[in-house]
Amino acid sequence: MESKSKKFLIRTFGCQMNKYDSDLLSDMLLSSGWESTAEPAEADLVVYNTCTVREKAEQRALAHISGTAAVKRANPRLRLAVIGCMSERMGQQLLDQIPEIDFILGPDYEHRLPELIENGFRTKGVYVTGNETSADTITRPSAPVSVRGISAFVAISKGCENYCSYCIVPYVRGPLVNRPAEDIIEEINALVDTGVKEVTLLGQNVNSYEHDGVDFPDLLRKVDERTGIDRIRFTTSHPRDVSEKLFKTMAEMPRICESLHLPMQSGSDRILGLMNRGYSYENYRNSINTARQYMPGMCLTTDLIAGFPTETEDEFGMTLSAIEEIGFSAAFMFRYSARPGTKAAEYPDYPPEEERIDRLNRMIALQQTIAREKNQKLAGTTAEVLVDGKSRKSDTEFRGRDRGGRTVIIKDSLNLNVGDIVDVTIESADSWTLMGRSG
Ligand code: SAH
Ligand code: SF4
Ligand code: F3S
Repeated sequence: MESKSKKFLIRTFGCQMNKYDSDLLSDMLLSSGWESTAEPAEADLVVYNTCTVREKAEQRALAHISGTAAVKRANPRLRLAVIGCMSERMGQQLLDQIPEIDFILGPDYEHRLPELIENGFRTKGVYVTGNETSADTITRPSAPVSVRGISAFVAISKGCENYCSYCIVPYVRGPLVNRPAEDIIEEINALVDTGVKEVTLLGQNVNSYEHDGVDFPDLLRKVDERTGIDRIRFTTSHPRDVSEKLFKTMAEMPRICESLHLPMQSGSDRILGLMNRGYSYENYRNSINTARQYMPGMCLTTDLIAGFPTETEDEFGMTLSAIEEIGFSAAFMFRYSARPGTKAAEYPDYPPEEERIDRLNRMIALQQTIAREKNQKLAGTTAEVLVDGKSRKSDTEFRGRDRGGRTVIIKDSLNLNVGDIVDVTIESADSWTLMGRSG
């Protein structure tokens, strides 16, 4: 009798780095004879790739894992693995809380999962600490095994050593390790061969990239010159480390998109100081002015935190004024969440939770109005759109992204194909989406 291959399912929470890591693990499992499935009931192995950046992110993941633990009680054959940042933070504690889990692996150990499974599938294991500083874990096989669609992520570094006072990432992802430029270029060219049109270079702080004398703008230039990719994006940039050289490179190189995600976090210098961000609001604004001189149509997005410990109403007001003054196309906004072991967790637990929620809501309302106004100003302009799928609402409309990264719905567009790059005349817009016609 022919033996049936085992099936796996990976569920991913958290940031793009986790999505990238999940793809890497998926490739490894596929290469060793596993099949992927979307049906939990069919799976022999369920993997959760988790995030720990805010408490809510953990609670969501824990609820899902507990659900699968219940399924496992009815089907003991099922193996349950939890990987990613929450695994690194909680380790054994996570196993104590959910004893049905078979494997707990921190980000530096994830690549060992296939090997652990092949070696018997039996022993429970907790593999964390993250003191391995080699770049091996982000050197993937040169050709991706599974299809990545038209957009793919490529890690250029791992870890972070900025120690922003609120942030747990340096503790769970370890110190910064940069990948050699040649590895990155090779990986992008392999992706291009499978039909990928757009890459997003990933790092917790891409601007601190440095390897063998190649800095981040040099790397961008090399990717533009030496790969066949149509579009290049990157995230995340740190305001302290962006430079005129970066903006100049973005403006000069045709395939680098005019899109910048630059987390501001707060508009108050006292709060920025407490956050250990290493810049003032004025520094931030000056960088944006320089960037906009090079790229007048640049799409600027940001991250903001409401209710950082000791933030006063006045200081919060400075963030609101900054939102108005700078004019972000989009913002990811969060209320402060204390993370165990970080510096800020030792600060006074003030403002209270209700106040944090209220500030967050006011911030969201303001940003939504600004985003709508900014988007509506694009009516009448032409956007270069990479078509990435059908619109969610209608089967007769395709959808894609412009160079800034904004979602564009293309009306009456049955003749298009996924992967096409087309000019679209923008007709209308709301806070999140542009609408227009091609041809
Ligand atoms: N390396 C990236 C991503 C960090 S996490 C960067 O530096 O931008 C993404 C965002 O989550 C951060 O920019 C910050 O706005 C938010 N964040 C991180 N820790 C947080 C915390 N403890 N509470 C609330 N928001 C947080
Ligand atoms: Fe966290 Fe700051 Fe590093 Fe970003 S730069 S991952 S916010 S410590
Ligand atoms: Fe979350 Fe880890 Fe990314 S904590 S935001 S998954 S680096």
